[in-house]
Amino acid sequence: MNIASTKTAPSGPTGAKTADITVVGGAGHVGIPLVLAFAEAGLTVNINDLSETALATLRAGQLPFIEHGAAPLLARALARNKLLFTSSPASIGRTGPVVVTIGTPVDEFLNPVQKEVQHCIDSLLPHIADDQLLILRSTVYPGTTDWLHDYLRRLGRRNSVAFCPERVVQGYGIKELREMPQIVSATSVAAEKEASEIFRRIAPELVVVKPIEAEFAKLFNNAYRYIEFAASNQFYMIAKSAGADYQAIMRATKQNYPRARSFPGPGFSAGPCLFKDTMQLAAYASNQFGLGHAAMQVNEGLVLQLVDDLRRGYDISNRTVGLLGMAFKAEVDDIRASLSYKLKHALEICAHKVLTTDPFVTADPNILPLDHVVANSDILILCTPHSVYAEADLKGKPVVDIWGFLKNANVVY
Ligand SMILES: NC(=O)c1ccc[n+]([C@@H]2O[C@H](COP(=O)([O-])OP(=O)(O)OC[C@H]3O[C@@H](n4cnc5c(N)ncnc54)[C@H](O)[C@@H]3O)[C@@H](O)[C@H]2O)c1
Repeated sequence: MNIASTKTAPSGPTGAKTADITVVGGAGHVGIPLVLAFAEAGLTVNINDLSETALATLRAGQLPFIEHGAAPLLARALARNKLLFTSSPASIGRTGPVVVTIGTPVDEFLNPVQKEVQHCIDSLLPHIADDQLLILRSTVYPGTTDWLHDYLRRLGRRNSVAFCPERVVQGYGIKELREMPQIVSATSVAAEKEASEIFRRIAPELVVVKPIEAEFAKLFNNAYRYIEFAASNQFYMIAKSAGADYQAIMRATKQNYPRARSFPGPGFSAGPCLFKDTMQLAAYASNQFGLGHAAMQVNEGLVLQLVDDLRRGYDISNRTVGLLGMAFKAEVDDIRASLSYKLKHALEICAHKVLTTDPFVTADPNILPLDHVVANSDILILCTPHSVYAEADLKGKPVVDIWGFLKNANVVY
């Protein structure tokens, strides 16, 4: 089933509008920007998602989470009748490619749970036609695309398989999908051509490689980023143990020095992707991924080191610690795998009390207003550098700012 020449959405046998393309998990973080990009390109998109709540939110013209720049596109797609909403595999329809955003989590042994993708595909197969292309969109364990191709053949199915990974930064998918090259790979020449035609509609540039190359490229992108953050975090800890000003060192390192241009600042390296994908790669490498494990040790250890430092400087057993920012990164509301919570849990063992605030997070009932947290805390820690904190009045309270982000605050380190 090819959409390359689709101009208007066709109608099904019942007269109901049918989709040009389906996005499974279409109401999630990976799904929504992609759905809106396709709709903006003129396609009718079936948002297939198990979450009725997220579908209802979208249908009402709202976004279930912060996605910068998405609101006007959603309004336009709804006004143009470009979106279909389905919550079960049975209602996907037998037309158009099917993009699967369902991920591969890691389990308690830090091994990838490949079955998640298989279960999702198994649930789709009875309801899709043999000529519908299956496109894997989320990060997968190396070899998954070729495995899926063989698996389908063993089941007597002829569906083609492509792997076209998501690489945008969370919260800014709308902008980055328009600007960044799209990696395209597939298990046959015809599938590669079909996937290329689809993504050419929304991406400025395609990079076409084999599935195993695309799978590694995606994992290497994320693991490299995680290692970069770890390098800066480790340097920060070394500089701090020497009593040196890391921000001054960063200035000296980077100022007009082209080879250090991409060197990141220190901070919490968290979220649902970087750690997981680094561990996925480590599992693939039979745990012989020393750099990846070292990065995990540093990035996760930074948080616990911060607690140790605080305990050395203050008797926190009788003090209240206020945490500024609980989302895993700035300007988003997503708390998945946020290191702010690792810090919170560690402090809850040794501090008198821990208060938390965040201007965006709605999923945590313990979040308090900033003013309340500032007024009732003895010490503050900047966990997430949301822009509202840059100039906030922190009432002269001692504040830990490893990011080097705050202006006019009583930063103790
Ligand atoms: N968030 C990112 O920026 C990003 C970037 C690249 C890759 N990834 C990877 O993509 C995967 C998905 O991440 P996400 O952030 O979009 O997660 P998410 O939780 O925001 O979205 C997943 C969506 O899929 C739905 N869903 C789950 N199982 C389903 C099924 N069987 N059928 C239909 N819908 C189903 C859920 O209801 C949810 O809305 C993860 O593996 C993640 O690591 C995420």
